[in-house]
Amino acid sequence: MAYPLQRLRRLRQTPTLRKWVSETELNAGDLILPLFVRSGKGVRKEISSMPGQFQLSCDQAVVEAKKAWELGILSVILFGIPDHKDDNGSESYSKEGVVQKAIKQIKQELPEMIVIADCCLCEYTAHGHCGIVGKKENGARIDNDKTLEILAKIALSQANAGADWIAPSGMMDGMVCAIRSALDKNNFLDRGILSYSAKYASSFYGPFREAAEGKPQFGDRKSYQMDFANRQEALREVKLDIEEGADIVMVKPALAYLDIVHSLKQKMSLPIAAYNVSGEYAMVKAASKNGWLEEKSTVLEILTSIKRAGADLILTYHAIDAARWLTPNIK
Ligand code: PBG
Repeated sequence: MAYPLQRLRRLRQTPTLRKWVSETELNAGDLILPLFVRSGKGVRKEISSMPGQFQLSCDQAVVEAKKAWELGILSVILFGIPDHKDDNGSESYSKEGVVQKAIKQIKQELPEMIVIADCCLCEYTAHGHCGIVGKKENGARIDNDKTLEILAKIALSQANAGADWIAPSGMMDGMVCAIRSALDKNNFLDRGILSYSAKYASSFYGPFREAAEGKPQFGDRKSYQMDFANRQEALREVKLDIEEGADIVMVKPALAYLDIVHSLKQKMSLPIAAYNVSGEYAMVKAASKNGWLEEKSTVLEILTSIKRAGADLILTYHAIDAARWLTPNIK
């Protein structure tokens, strides 16, 4: 006797049926496009470890943002590559800084687009750490509280330039509180904070450090970023950030941390973002270039899985490609 067609299989027979009962739908609007901005005009410098991603001058960042917006992507996050680095990362809060300029120009062209500014020191400090480094006698530790003062300055300069959201990514204690109070005091009550709350010390950031020219010149980031062995600690970090005023919390990286995304989604009631980081992008790019993976289907599987795990928003370098693939009739 033939084995009867099971109920589950009955639901998978045709594309229409599969769409009918699909539990997760990925949309272009879920994606946040990261952009690296630098000085100059007409500059598009490809990042060798991230094929298809560029260091862009402000005018070119506007071009990319427009492309994204037209495909249904609602937001971009900006990282700056300054001309000049020093121990205090002073270009990070300059009115004429590259990120401040890019924010202004993107908001001018696309007032509805949500512009997020990454708020961290690592791209701006000569030593490449995410905070101010204290005296060597103390074992070259990050001076947390001094760093908070600078983060508040950066956030204000970004809000002044027109940023809708500030995204502190340095894992300093009290960073959300410091930024929230600075914004409130200066009447930026409408600006949100997307905090990199659960950011792990990860090898998957390798290509980003080339892209943003922000490799630590000594030591590593393990004293402020989380140990990948821990999950409870992520919940504690996130709870603190929420108490301090975060509006959206992020898990980073995404793929090896989907259990964290899932726990947060179940336990917290605010939007969860996940960062599909540079190393995750580079792996897919390298394998598909070699013909070992099929890029489009792999990317859509990865992004849908991040959403299925519980992410409401996904930061990804695949954003423009994915949005194109998700939009019927656009090649
Ligand atoms: C640092 C920062 C990092 C990323 C975003 N902001 C990396 C780091 O800690 O070195 C990584 C993003 C990526 O890998 O795509 N503030």
